[in-house]
Amino acid sequence: MTRPEVVVHATGELLAAAAAARLITKIVDAQAAHGVASVVLTGGRTGIGVLEQVNDSPARDAVDWANVDVYWGDERFLPYGDPDRNETQARHALLDHVPVNPERVHPMAPSGGKFGPDADAAAAHYAEVLATTASRETDIAVPHFDVLLLGIGEEGHTASLFPETPYVQESGRTVVGVHDCPKPPPTRISLTLPAIQAASEVWLMTTGSAKAKPVAAALGGAKPVDIPAAGAHGRDLTLWLLDPTAASAIPTGG
Ligand code: 6PG
Repeated sequence: MTRPEVVVHATGELLAAAAAARLITKIVDAQAAHGVASVVLTGGRTGIGVLEQVNDSPARDAVDWANVDVYWGDERFLPYGDPDRNETQARHALLDHVPVNPERVHPMAPSGGKFGPDADAAAAHYAEVLATTASRETDIAVPHFDVLLLGIGEEGHTASLFPETPYVQESGRTVVGVHDCPKPPPTRISLTLPAIQAASEVWLMTTGSAKAKPVAAALGGAKPVDIPAAGAHGRDLTLWLLDPTAASAIPTGG
């Protein structure tokens, strides 16, 4: 596992702008290296704020959007178009405004659609979607994700993997239906830690003093079952993008 890198930006606004610049560069570089870039989006205030900043950036048009594969790390299991779905928010923030190829945009299924209320079936279907474009570089049935974005919750959850649940300890499946979540809505779909760990780069982005404790715990070597974000790392880079309050409890030397 690579040592995590921590970058602290002076404000949440600067963090979002800098992360957006970093994301644009990462996508452009991945496209230069292998044609198509593969990006996994997150829900949450911070992650959506970064997409808004990508949309507002003049460098946005340096990306060949038709050659970006877009996936989600987790989804709130709600009807299509629900304003609280991570997909809806990402579309409003960015995807509706750039010329993506719809065939390369891979949302997790909504509730009430093909899978009705069955989040487990929707999760199994997403695992199949990932398996069809699985990378030969990883030994797990997911694509080569160039960059996977994540947020972190006050109790240390990341994606929709919450502390002390079987989902955070899942080692066989790449995608799970998650039930009884403490953060609404209670039913979600999430990549598991092995799927997250197959990404080349994992960026965890958060701001605010409420996140100081889980950030410090994750960087201080907590067990993923207690602090799921501690198990989120990339094959080549694990990057924490923080503001000073979220970084305020990081152990010295951590
Ligand atoms: C979601 C998430 C979740 C989120 C964190 C942080 O769908 O709710 O993907 O993991 O990223 O809860 O959210 P905030 O950035 O809003 O604090």
